[in-house]
Amino acid sequence: MVHGVCIAALIVLASYYFFGELATPTRFLMLRTGSIGLILLVASFACTPAARILHWQGAIQIRRALGLYGFLFIAIHLLAYVWGDNEFDMELILRDLDERRAMLVGTLSFMLLIPLALTSTRGWQRRLGRRWKMLHRLVYLALPLAVLHYLALDRDFIELPLFFAAVVGILFLLRVGKRR
Ligand code: HEM
Repeated sequence: MVHGVCIAALIVLASYYFFGELATPTRFLMLRTGSIGLILLVASFACTPAARILHWQGAIQIRRALGLYGFLFIAIHLLAYVWGDNEFDMELILRDLDERRAMLVGTLSFMLLIPLALTSTRGWQRRLGRRWKMLHRLVYLALPLAVLHYLALDRDFIELPLFFAAVVGILFLLRVGKRR
């Protein structure tokens, strides 16, 4: 189901982007991939507490796929920004990173997600052993930074970013509660 929903979302986005006759297709792609990517990352983070609270082991089975699709959507989000919006003009991009805190925070979050995506396979899990778990704790930094990126965009509507912040906060509390 996760594969079906995420691939369908990719197809819908691609068809709007190429054939939707949108006024600003790049902006459309950037905003939609940002939102969907964030939802998938939060959903992946929610799997562990969901499995415990709902006694649903299936949540653990879909955790990795949700995280990887989240990463894929965010990679497209970044590509739309770097290529579509800035045409690979590094000077422009670096200036934007310097001037807009949201961009810097988003980039940090994305960079933290890269090692997680690369080592998400069972082979890497076996090879790294205990260190794998420690490495994957990077998500505890990456996800709040992703939400901060959304909050720092400084939009007129703050409700949705605040909603994501609240959900992530609750998920943190559930995880910390379990550790205690
Ligand atoms: C994990 C990393 C990231 C997540 C979860 C994320 C998520 C989001 C979300 C949810 C939005 C708002 C979408 C909407 O309003 O519909 C957004 C907007 C945006 N993001 Fe990201 N993003 C991430 C990383 C990045 C990076 C690395 C860049 C580029 C350096 C970036 C550039 C942008 C831009 C330019 C916008 C639109 C801002 C505007 O409205 O002017 N994002 N992102």
